[in-house]
This record gives sequence, structure tokens and C-alpha cells, in this order.
Amino acid sequence: MILDGKQIAGEIQQEIKQALSSGHTRMPCLAVVLVGENPPSVIYVNRKTKACAEVGIKSIKKELPANIAEKALIEEIEQLNNDPAVDGILVQLPLPHHLNPMNVIQHINAEKDVDGQHPENLGKLFMGDTDTFAPCTPLGIKVMLERSNIDVSGQHVLVIGRSNLVGKPMAALLMQTGPGANATVTVAHSRTKNLKEIAMTADVIIAAIGQPKFVTADMVKPGAVIVDVGINKIDDSTKGTGYQIVGDVDFDAVKDKCSYITPVPGGVGPMTIAMLLSNTYKSFLRRQAIKSQT
Ligand SMILES: NC(=O)c1ccc[n+]([C@@H]2O[C@H](COP(=O)([O-])OP(=O)(O)OC[C@H]3O[C@@H](n4cnc5c(N)ncnc54)[C@H](OP(=O)(O)O)[C@@H]3O)[C@@H](O)[C@H]2O)c1
Repeated sequence: MILDGKQIAGEIQQEIKQALSSGHTRMPCLAVVLVGENPPSVIYVNRKTKACAEVGIKSIKKELPANIAEKALIEEIEQLNNDPAVDGILVQLPLPHHLNPMNVIQHINAEKDVDGQHPENLGKLFMGDTDTFAPCTPLGIKVMLERSNIDVSGQHVLVIGRSNLVGKPMAALLMQTGPGANATVTVAHSRTKNLKEIAMTADVIIAAIGQPKFVTADMVKPGAVIVDVGINKIDDSTKGTGYQIVGDVDFDAVKDKCSYITPVPGGVGPMTIAMLLSNTYKSFLRRQAIKSQT
């Protein structure tokens, strides 16, 4: 069965739109910082700002030159930190090589870090805080599983990939106590031995690798749940574009063996955007509440 991230994301966006339709004196505002013109980043940023407009969140796009100095980029971020009209700040990754993402991200005010990448928010996540800003892609996967009534409690979840953006926070979210969590988590990476044997014991596989069709049918236990995070461009002369987008899972081979599977596109991607909107709305509500107390 298909796990329809696109539909669930649409429902979440409708809920936010509804919640914003009355009773607020201003719109929430998300600032997206784009450094350079990396084509996939430009596409992702446009999708995010379009989704903001659809639900009634204002967005500011800060487009900065690829050769910007780190100090100048940090100054731009600090301006957004100090702007009372801005509720959320997202720095689109990856950054050009001369910029240190860890250094840049830690200058975002943690209270506006709606992408959940600030060390304070990641630290809180790892300490079991269920109300911090969690990174949007893993949060979207958790919410998608919950809304699909897939209970991971006590299940063996294999996360393939250990990036700060997806793999590590995914493991942290699923290890937490509380609804949608309490899983037994294994994290695999490029140095993992016997990955196929480990994968065969997993009730849920979350693939965040960046290798086209890496997870094959012989790695999947019958009835397992498969979440495909990967977005990979492969040559395909049968398409007008000359390429197609595929995930990290060999969808056609795996779909009849598993119980649920996310498509690429239309699975995890839309959930990531829905969580960005949801985190921005959460930040807006928090900041409104603080303002009304002062
Ligand atoms: N749908 C969305 O919204 C969304 C959001 C973010 C990312 N993505 C996509 O998800 C994929 C992963 O993104 P990312 O940012 O996490 O990538 P990343 O930073 O490149 O991390 C990839 C991870 O996969 C592991 N890996 C690579 N080859 C492997 C192998 N042969 N066996 C086992 N593990 C292997 C790496 O291990 P090492 O650490 O040992 O190198 C690394 O931990 C990409 O395709 C990306 O485009 C999608």
C-alpha cells in the first residue's frame, strides 16, 4: 500500500490555513536564506515559499551571492534574528564549500530555527524534549507514520544514513518516549557490515542514503514498512527531460513485498514542506503568546 505523503501533507496544510484564517492580527513570516544558485536548492526554496503563500504564511527570500563571506552571511542572519516580524529562519543547505554550515546555523536564534538544525534544538531533541523544533524531514516521517496509524512502538526500525539533516535526528525522534516513538532503532551507514542481514530483521526501513534504488527486494522482510527519503536524478532517455527522479529504494521490486511504501516523488518530500509550515506556525504562536504576556 502506498503511504501518500502528498495527501497527508495537503491535509496538514489545510489545517494550518484554517487556523490562520481568523483571529490573528498579522501573518506568520518565514525568512528563507539562499546562498548561490545551486539548481536543486533554487527549486526547493521556490516550493517552500509557494507552500507558505498557499496557507497564509508570509515569506521573505534572501538571495545572497555564492561568494558571500561567512561574516557577511552571519550579519544577514542576525538582522533576521532581530526583526520582530520574522518568526522562522531557514538557511537552505548545502552551502557553498567556503562556508561552514555548523558555524552559520548556530547564529540563527534557536527560537526561530524552524528547520531544527540549531545545536540547541538538536540537543533538546536528543535529550527527549518533544516540544523542540525537530528537523522537518524526520519530523514529517514521524507524523506521516502516526497519521497512517503505523505504530512503531517496540518495532525494529532501521535508519540507513546518519546525516545531521535526516538519519541522526530520525533515530532520536523514534527513540523518544511518547506517541509515535518508542521504537528499537538501528542506524546504518557506509561502514556498516552485513547491512542486508540487518535490514531483513527490520519492521520498518527508512532509507536516507542518496544512492538510487539502493534498497532491493532481497533486503526487505515481507510485510515491512518502507520509507524512502532519497531524491536521485538518473539518466532516462525515454523521458522528455532526459532524466527521472528516483528514491533510494527499488520501488517496483519492493512494493509487492512490503506492507507500506512511500513513493518518490510524492512521499517524504511534501511532508518535509508541511513540517516547515507547521514549525513556522508553532514559532508564530509561541512568539504571539510571549508578546501578549509582556
Ligand atoms: N525528501 C526530502 O525532503 C529530503 C530531505 C533531505 C534529504 N533528502 C534526500 O535524502 C538522501 C539523503 O540525504 P542526506 O542529506 O541525509 O545525505 P548525506 O548527508 O549525503 O548522508 C547520506 C548517508 O548515507 C550513508 N550511505 C551512503 N552510502 C551508503 C551505503 N552504500 N550504505 C550505507 N549507508 C550509506 C552515508 O554514510 P556515511 O556517513 O558513512 O558517509 C551517510 O550517512 C538524499 O538523496 C537527499 O537528496 C530528501
